[in-house]
Amino acid sequence: MKNHSGKKKDSAMNPTAVPSAGGMERLDPAGMIARRALDIDASGIRKVFDLAANLKDPINFSIGQPDFDVPEPIKERAIAAIRDGKNHYTPTQGIAELIEPIRRQVVDSTGWRDPGVLILSGTSGGIMLAMFAVLNPGDEALFLDPYFVMYRHLPRLIGAVPAPVDSYPDFRLHPERIEAAITPRTKMLIICSPNNPTGIAFTTAELRAAADIARRRNLLVLSDEIYDGFCYRKHESIASFLPEQCILLKGYSKTYAMTGWRLGYAAGPQPIIEQMTKLQQYTFVCAPSPAQYAALELIHGHTVDMTAQIDAYRRKRDKIVLGLRDHFEINEPAGAFYVFPKVPGRRTAAEFVSQALANNVLLIPGDVFSRRNTHFRLSYATSDAKIEQGITVLRKLAEDIPETK
Ligand SMILES: Cc1ncc(COP(=O)(O)O)c(C=O)c1O
Repeated sequence: MKNHSGKKKDSAMNPTAVPSAGGMERLDPAGMIARRALDIDASGIRKVFDLAANLKDPINFSIGQPDFDVPEPIKERAIAAIRDGKNHYTPTQGIAELIEPIRRQVVDSTGWRDPGVLILSGTSGGIMLAMFAVLNPGDEALFLDPYFVMYRHLPRLIGAVPAPVDSYPDFRLHPERIEAAITPRTKMLIICSPNNPTGIAFTTAELRAAADIARRRNLLVLSDEIYDGFCYRKHESIASFLPEQCILLKGYSKTYAMTGWRLGYAAGPQPIIEQMTKLQQYTFVCAPSPAQYAALELIHGHTVDMTAQIDAYRRKRDKIVLGLRDHFEINEPAGAFYVFPKVPGRRTAAEFVSQALANNVLLIPGDVFSRRNTHFRLSYATSDAKIEQGITVLRKLAEDIPETK
């Protein structure tokens, strides 16, 4: 085998070459993998998904997407777009017909004067592009623990430092803890409200306090509002308190159950959005074209009303909280479709989750989202019948508290 300079490789020096039959060297693909990929551990969540695939008709509380389908008018618009030949690359920043009304919505809802807008290939794409555009190696990104998994892993891909701030036991936004975690290298503060995995939605006072810290300490806020549609009281955004200092991320995945269509948008200071656009050009290229045209239905169509679905999810939230609260320590969620209860007794999250699994109930252990392993995430994005069955199993498990560990 030749290396890039054309010289024969020395297998003693080359960890990616292994001897094979006949004494020839061959490439060891596993040895080629970069440290940044190996450093990411996705085993916790993958294990649950693998197990889910093997269970027969499980009570699946592990799912991060709504159990309803995309509303018909949006589907029809996507089908029409495909038939109409809207199947090619769009401009990197997105189609103008979508960007302009979104820009007006952002201005109306935040009071920002002239934000940049970028249509994203999913909110995930926006989290990545924002970090890549803003964080230098060694810069720190703060976020609350428990956290959405990407906040911890993506900064490390670019040599930046994820800095979780403990929010136990109430999962509220404690300004003094954020303030205490700031160092001279802190550049970004990520706020996720309503929150995955806790379901907590922050109050105006909490968001104002965080905005005040960001202003005083010169932090850029990344506000992940993917669950804004699933808010069981009025949705509040930190964006209105932070013109010029906030990147707002919104998505279509959860509210309209379009998780597979990969669509979201970022709004924020123009110089940052311009850099994110440039990076999108060389990574995702553009958001999927039919999905962008389908989203026009939400702007011009007035045919989509998610009130019934959101009301149903509020009732699911109530059912879960009512069913579990006398057996589990729970902070009542005000949004998203998750609760993050404490494991009862002296069991670890992993132990409790395996016990649930033995009873056909799938949960995610809290340490997937946290440095602690004392809680578990339950997604109630499933049928009412499954929720009721699941409550019965979990109450029983909580009653069977082992005396000692
Ligand atoms: C907090 C949070 N942000 C972002 C995302 C990604 O959403 P999208 O499908 O828009 O990439 C998720 C998905 O689970 C999420 O929970």
